[in-house]
Amino acid sequence: MIIAPSLLAADFARLGRDVARLERAGAYWLHLDIMDGHFVPNISFGPGLVHDLRPLSKLVFDAHLMCSEPEILLEPFAEAGADRITVHAELGEKRVAELIGKIRALGKEVGLSINPPTSVDLILPHLEVIDSLLVMTVNPGFGGQEFMAETLPKIRQAHLWSQEKHLNLKIAVDGGINFQTAAECAREGADVFVSGTFLFKEKSLSGAIKKMRTVASLAH
Ligand code: DX5
Ligand code: ZN
Repeated sequence: MIIAPSLLAADFARLGRDVARLERAGAYWLHLDIMDGHFVPNISFGPGLVHDLRPLSKLVFDAHLMCSEPEILLEPFAEAGADRITVHAELGEKRVAELIGKIRALGKEVGLSINPPTSVDLILPHLEVIDSLLVMTVNPGFGGQEFMAETLPKIRQAHLWSQEKHLNLKIAVDGGINFQTAAECAREGADVFVSGTFLFKEKSLSGAIKKMRTVASLAH
């Protein structure tokens, strides 16, 4: 079970401090939400920030590109220190296939994401060549939204495909993840839990990360 705190919920005036806190608290991945103001109605941060955070941390940098033109961003994020890069299936099969090839050629792990209204079938053509699926459990753009339970069957379906084809696909969930929704997703087969707003509001970050890992393991 991997807990991937989202930097979007950190204090943007104290990002270095918050990354260090997350690392001390036992996080394994650091989820980096990259928003371009076009694919989603919000802007977050770019490769410059990732570059500056990189020497401060050994966490796995997990870049989630919510961007209309990820083609122009793959190299900058790879060079800035992203370890894995996730793009969205909504960009279309052909573009996604090319993006996956490029991420792989850069030596990074590949993630594919689907928004709540998007059918999980869109991942089928790419299933064998991705490392992780990121099931959005809110409409992307903002932290702090409510978990959408109607996305749960997509987790189950992807988990079944992964088992049938012996793929070892990591299934991540993103948006509105707390102890309860993490358990609900784990029950369907999720094994990576992106959580921002909830984790950062908890008094003890390390206690919350530990507890999320435990509730997810018990439900899996
Ligand atoms: C949503 C982002 C998420 C978000 C996490 O657009 O992709 O990663 O920051 O959501 P919360 O804050 O609900 O955990
Ligand atoms: Zn995200």
